[in-house]
Amino acid sequence: MKIINVNASKEYDVIIGEGLLSSLGERCVSLLGKGRAVIVTDSNVKEYWLDEAKKSLQLAGIQTSVFVFPAGEESKSKETLFELIEFMAENRLTRSDFAVALGGGVTGDMVGLASSLYLRGIEFVQVPTTLLAAVDSSVGGKTAVNLKAGKNLMGAFYQPALVLCDTRTLGTLPENIFADGMAEVIKYGVIFDKDLFDKVSGGDVKSDIESIIARCVELKRDVVAKDEFDKGDRQLLNFGHTMAHSIEKLSNFEISHGSAVAIGMVIAAKASYALGWSEEDCTQAIIDANKNNNLPVECSFAPTDLADIALSDKKRSGGTINFVVPKVMGECVLKKVPVDVLYEIAELK
Ligand code: GLY
Repeated sequence: MKIINVNASKEYDVIIGEGLLSSLGERCVSLLGKGRAVIVTDSNVKEYWLDEAKKSLQLAGIQTSVFVFPAGEESKSKETLFELIEFMAENRLTRSDFAVALGGGVTGDMVGLASSLYLRGIEFVQVPTTLLAAVDSSVGGKTAVNLKAGKNLMGAFYQPALVLCDTRTLGTLPENIFADGMAEVIKYGVIFDKDLFDKVSGGDVKSDIESIIARCVELKRDVVAKDEFDKGDRQLLNFGHTMAHSIEKLSNFEISHGSAVAIGMVIAAKASYALGWSEEDCTQAIIDANKNNNLPVECSFAPTDLADIALSDKKRSGGTINFVVPKVMGECVLKKVPVDVLYEIAELK
C-alpha cells in the first residue's frame, strides 16, 4: 500500500493498494465521522463494485443512498449534475454528510462539482475505478461537466477529503479503457520523469501497477502543490491535450480521451521538434510507447479542422495558447504560441 499526502488548499491522502475498498467505511468514519453518504456510480461500475463499497460504509455505521447514472461521457452533463444535486436534497444530506464518487473520470468530475455546489459545499471521497481516474482526474480537485460548446466548461476547483484507489478495480476494466489510462501515464513520463517513461514504454505494466500509479500521483501532487489553480506549471499536464480535445470532438467522442491524448502527444512532439522548440526529437519514443500500450499514434482528420477546434478550447488566452513542448524526454516547458501557429502545428501532424 502507498500513501501520498496532497497539500493543496485542503490536505488529504491518496491511498493506493490492493483490496482497499473494504476499508472505505472505517476510513470515512475516522476522517468525516458517522454521517450519511450518497454513493454515486455509473451503470457499468455498479455491477462490479457498488455492493462492496456500500457494505463497507454500512458496516462502519454510515447510512447510504445510491445514485446510479448511465455510463458514458453523455452523462457528464448539467442535466445529470442537477439530478444528482436534487437527489442529495431529496435525501436531506447535510453538511455533516458526504458523497462517494465510485467510478472513472466522469463520475469523479461530476460528483466533485455537485459536492462543491450542494449546500455551498459538502465533503466528497474519490474512489477511482479506472486507471485514468487513479493517475489523473481523482487527484488535484478539478471538477466539471461538459457544455454544448465543449468539454469541462462548467466546473470548479474543489478538493476531495480522501482518494482511495483499490487496484483490484482495474482488473475488471476492458483493455481499451486500461489503455486510456496508460496514455496519461506515458504523458507524466514525457513531462516530468524519463525513468517512468522508460519503465512503461515497453507495455506489460500490470504487475507493477501500484507503484506506477503512486509515481504518477506523486508527480501530480507536486505540480498541484505549486499551482493548484492552473495558472502556470499545472498547465504542463496539458501535454498532448491541445489537439486531443479537437480529435475527441471531430470523432463525435468515438475516439476516447486517452486515445486522443496519445495521438495529441505524437503531434505535439513532432511539431515541437520540426519548429525548433525541442532539444531532442521525442516523437519516435512516444509512438513506440503508444503502440506497446495499445494506443493509437495518428488520426485522419484534416489539419484545419483540428486547428479550428483547438482555437475554441478554453486553454486559449487572448491571441495565444500555452502549448506544452517536450524540451527533452522527461522535461516539458510551456510555450506561448500565437493561435495561428496552431495551423502549422496541425499541418505537421
Ligand atoms: N488533468 C489535468 C489537471 O488536473 O490539471
